[in-house]
Amino acid sequence: MSKQYSFAMLKPGVLQRRLAGEIITRIERKGLSLHAFKLLRISRAQAEEHYREHHEQPFFKDLVDYITSGPVLAMIIGGDEAVAVLRTLCGATRIEQALPGTIRGDFADHTRKNIIHASDSPESAEREIRLFFRPEELVEWNDGNEEWI
Ligand SMILES: Nc1ncnc2c1ncn2[C@@H]1O[C@H](COP(=O)(O)OP(=O)(O)O)[C@@H](O)[C@H]1O
Ligand SMILES: [Mg+2]
Repeated sequence: MSKQYSFAMLKPGVLQRRLAGEIITRIERKGLSLHAFKLLRISRAQAEEHYREHHEQPFFKDLVDYITSGPVLAMIIGGDEAVAVLRTLCGATRIEQALPGTIRGDFADHTRKNIIHASDSPESAEREIRLFFRPEELVEWNDGNEEWI
């Protein structure tokens, strides 16, 4: 078993729809753990950097407009195979392919506004975590400390 960290971001609209708790519950229920948590409104420069691989896509400007349009919740999520597990929990990018039971399958009604971002590889996770958090903001912890439970 090897612990891995992934980066997740609840997109604008999630807080307004009061869905943050439900989504975090799903992440926790799967056994993943929260290691950093930040509510923010991201800058255009940060959004363009975050989505830089898509800069030539026709939807790039709309995507950046949208992701900077309201508050987001950025998180570092840890666990065994956390990157792949989180992507599975999120479901497919496109709404017509996101299966019921996944976060996007259950809550997304528009591909651009598909509720949650999750890193697509350990390398992306490292880059994205660095873009949104300082190293000391990642809080390491493990289960099973008898003083807590
Ligand atoms: N064809 C599209 N039209 C509009 N928005 C899109 C489209 N494809 C992707 N997006 C948006 O861009 C984000 C980044 O795309 P991508 O990295 O391919 O997906 P994912 O978020 O699943 O990793 C998606 O989550 C979605 O919000
Ligand atoms: Mg992606």
